[in-house]
Amino acid sequence: MIAGTSFVWDGAALQPDGVISALDRGVLFGDGIYETIRGYNGVLFQLEAHLDRMAQGLRVLQMPVEPTIAQVREALAQLEPLDQGQDLRLRVTVTRGVGGQPWELYQTTGPSIALQCRVLPRLCDILPKVGCSATISDVRRNETSPLSRIKSLNCLDNLLARSQAQAAGFDDVLFLNTADRVVEASTSNLFIVAGKAIFTPPVEEGLLPGITREVVMELAHVTQRPLIAEDLFQADEIFLTNSISEIVPLTHLDGNPIGTGDPGPVTASLYATYRKMTQGT
Ligand SMILES: Cc1ncc(COP(=O)(O)O)c(C=O)c1O
Repeated sequence: MIAGTSFVWDGAALQPDGVISALDRGVLFGDGIYETIRGYNGVLFQLEAHLDRMAQGLRVLQMPVEPTIAQVREALAQLEPLDQGQDLRLRVTVTRGVGGQPWELYQTTGPSIALQCRVLPRLCDILPKVGCSATISDVRRNETSPLSRIKSLNCLDNLLARSQAQAAGFDDVLFLNTADRVVEASTSNLFIVAGKAIFTPPVEEGLLPGITREVVMELAHVTQRPLIAEDLFQADEIFLTNSISEIVPLTHLDGNPIGTGDPGPVTASLYATYRKMTQGT
């Protein structure tokens, strides 16, 4: 695969630097979904789990599931093999395509599929060691919306809040839902460590069922339960999970240290296990 390249699937072949119409519903209404997948040493990590989540997103958007996933598979199969030794980020975007009144979901040309691939900056491997800071957003996550649980193209709440947090000197931002319970960060899921126990909020609270979250729940005993902001400030450790940045300790929240204020041992040990898994050792 040529890093730094984007492709559009034309139904039969991948077109390098292809374009999607300005009339595409993904452009007009954010009518689509995407996946961001990390490739380690030439292999896309957890590819099947990403495709399963994409299928669930298609169901929620009432788009054809099987034929669309089959097309995504065909498109992926046409990529050149990933360069060995390089860690890559692959984004797969699927929109509903062109056509119909905004509310007419079935009068369209069929899906548009785009792939983007780039080599990861080394920074990605520094964050798990140094950790990050966050603030809590005033914007609430709407847990009653099905969009809160799929990776839809509507991510501006997340991006605007993160940009505002960064302007105020924080790395990231955490969201509460309408019941004032903690859900996740702008682009990652959240776990807390309290003593020997690890907790994470359930998906029903209004969060994306992250692929890395799922892997962490396989690697460690994690209890899913609703969390409030107070749980965060009293935690011994907090960590965030994301396919690209993996497992990142959250060491400071709204200026307060979490635990000692340094990355903690439970997070470090989980990160080491996760790294072994991604490296296939
Ligand atoms: C809102 C949100 N939550 C959680 C995640 C983590 O998901 P994953 O582990 O599948 O990358 C992401 C990923 O981008 C995200 O955008």
